[in-house]
Amino acid sequence: MPDERRPRVFVARQIPEEELLPVRAACDADVWQDELQPSRDELLRRVAGCDGILTLLTDRVDDELLDAAGPRLRVVSNYAVGFDNIDVAACARRGIAVGNTPGVLTETTADLAWALLMAAGRRLPEGDRYVRAGHWRTWGPLLLLGPDVHGATIGIVGFGRIGQAVARRAQGFGMAILYHDVNRLPDEITQPLGASYVSLEELLAQSDFVSLHVNLTEETRHLINAYTLAAMKPTAVLVNTSRGPVIDQLALADALRDGVIWAAALDVTDPEPIPMDDPLVGLDNCLIVPHIASASRATRGKMAAMAAANLLAGVRGEPLPTPVTAAPSP
Ligand code: GLV
Ligand code: GLV
Repeated sequence: MPDERRPRVFVARQIPEEELLPVRAACDADVWQDELQPSRDELLRRVAGCDGILTLLTDRVDDELLDAAGPRLRVVSNYAVGFDNIDVAACARRGIAVGNTPGVLTETTADLAWALLMAAGRRLPEGDRYVRAGHWRTWGPLLLLGPDVHGATIGIVGFGRIGQAVARRAQGFGMAILYHDVNRLPDEITQPLGASYVSLEELLAQSDFVSLHVNLTEETRHLINAYTLAAMKPTAVLVNTSRGPVIDQLALADALRDGVIWAAALDVTDPEPIPMDDPLVGLDNCLIVPHIASASRATRGKMAAMAAANLLAGVRGEPLPTPVTAAPSP
C-alpha cells in the first residue's frame, strides 16, 4: 500500500537514473519505461491524482491534462529549456508551478549549432556520402566547394543565452556578428561579443549564416517563410536548433530546391520525427539531425538534476529553483 502522505509523481520518460534517486526516495514515482512517449490517453491516465509531473517537450500540458491530473497537482517540471509544450497560463490560473532547465544546456546547444553550421557550410554529410558511395577518385579542384566559415557574417536571431553562446564561437572564427531579438540588449552584453543589433530584414540580407535561437511563440511561428527566405542571400546557410515550427518547412524545401538559399541544417523539425516523405528529406543541401542539441552526457545529467529539484520543490510547496516565468529567448 502506498503511504498516502508521500507525494505521487509521474515521470514521463526515463531520465538519467542517478538524478531520479532523490525523487524516488521522497515520492511514489511512476516512471514511464518505454523509449517512446506515452500515448495521450495513457498520459492522461497516469497523471491522475499526481502531486507532480516531470514532462518532456513531447508531452503536451494543457487544460485537458491538468483536469485529468486533478486538484492535487502542484508542479509541472519540464525536462527542457523550451516550454512551448506547456500552457503556462493555464497552469498559473490553477496555481500550478512550472519549471524548466535553463542555463545548463546553453553551451552544449551552441556547440551543436556550431557543428551544424560547419557541417552544412563545408558539406560534411555530402562528403561522407560521396566517399561511402565509392565516388572518391581523385583530389578535385572543384569538389564539394562551399563557403568559408571564418570571416563570414553570421546573423543570430534570438539573442538569449544560447544565441550569445553562438556569438562567442563566431568570435573565434573572426566573423562579423549581427543579431536580432525582440529586445535590444544592453551594450555591456553585446559589445564584448562584437555583436551589432539590426532589423530582421537587414540581418537576413547581410548574413552568410543565419542561426535561429528564439522561443516558439505565436510571433515566431513561421518566422522563416517564403518571404523571409527570399530576403536571404542565395549563398546563405540556415541553421535551426530552436523549434521546428519557427520555419515554414514547405517554403524551406522550395527555397533549397530553387537556390533561393544555399543550404540548411536542422536539429528540429515540424513535426518530429520528420516524415520520411517530407521534401526536405530528399534534398542533399539539407542536413537533419534528430533534436540532439542538448545531447551530451554531462548536460543531460544536469538537466535531470534540475528537473528533479524543481519537481521535489514543487510537491513540497516550495519555490522552484528554476521556475518558468516570461519567455525571453532561450
Ligand atoms: C530542447 O529542445 C530543450 O528545449 O531543452
Ligand atoms: C588539400 O588537400 C591541398 O593540399 O590543397
